[in-house]
Amino acid sequence: MSPKPTVFVTKPLFPSVRATLDPVVDAQYWTEPDRIPRHELLRGVSGKDALICLPTDKVDAELLDSGPKLRLISTVSVGYDHVDLDACTKRGVTVTNTPGVLTDSTADLAWGLLMAVARRIVEGDAWTRSGSWNGLAFDTFLGADVWGKTLGIIGLGRIGREMARRALGFKMRVLYTSRNRAPETVGKELQAEYAPFDTVLRESDFVSLHVPLLPQTRHLISSDAFAKMKPSAFLINTTRGPVVDEAALVHALETAKIAGAALDVYEQEPKVHPGLLARRDVVLAPHIGSATVETRTSMARVAAENAVAFFTGHPPPNALNAPGK
Ligand code: DGY
Repeated sequence: MSPKPTVFVTKPLFPSVRATLDPVVDAQYWTEPDRIPRHELLRGVSGKDALICLPTDKVDAELLDSGPKLRLISTVSVGYDHVDLDACTKRGVTVTNTPGVLTDSTADLAWGLLMAVARRIVEGDAWTRSGSWNGLAFDTFLGADVWGKTLGIIGLGRIGREMARRALGFKMRVLYTSRNRAPETVGKELQAEYAPFDTVLRESDFVSLHVPLLPQTRHLISSDAFAKMKPSAFLINTTRGPVVDEAALVHALETAKIAGAALDVYEQEPKVHPGLLARRDVVLAPHIGSATVETRTSMARVAAENAVAFFTGHPPPNALNAPGK
């Protein structure tokens, strides 16, 4: 019997997921509570056939050099901007991700952030806990209505569509802009109207970002974009931090170009621009878009299934490249 393929896994994942993986591969798990340091990651992939990793594990030429036997990178995430896909393809390394299973949880979180910033929920929570509250007041903590407003969706992929679907319940007008216009049936079902990027910025009360991080989307939301938005508008970002120019966002808030922002992702995680930290018109979450027990379990399962398929001679269900084809 030939030895099992060897896999380095940068988190213990979950027992149910290990039960899928372990019969097929010889997996070595990073079990320390802290995130794996870079040098340990480079050491971990040495001599391994595959890596199962997280978005915080950068997969670049240096890592591929450290693991010359690597044939598969299975990331436990839908986003794969931490993986140099071209470098992997050139070296014959297949890359897989975990789309689909986190769509609804991420849209839920985006909605939670939208509601939180519009209705000042986090600010109100801090106030209530501080003991400063002395009873219902007519004119304090006045936020902005959500229902009936215009939601602008930048990127009508899976998560953008679910964001739009949730807006139906809030009786909102939904505008979207996307690389590819959605089929008419989708637009009708979601009651979402296609508009050019600038129109979405100009007419929306809430702008929610759902594009992947690509060279073309880096700093898509810059001072130019803020200048087009309504002074009463809110920005919601649950995709990737660098889609927004964070310094420009701080400036836009300071100069009242927009009314507020709710962010789950940052340009240089885990650093947050200091100009955001003290602001009450900003809600900050620690990259938890897909962080529910159910969704993280599903993501780990899908990542394990990609690896099992690959090593049992089946096409992995979520391959991002096709090296050698
Ligand atoms: C993803 O899957 O890309 C999320 O950002 C991390 O869970």
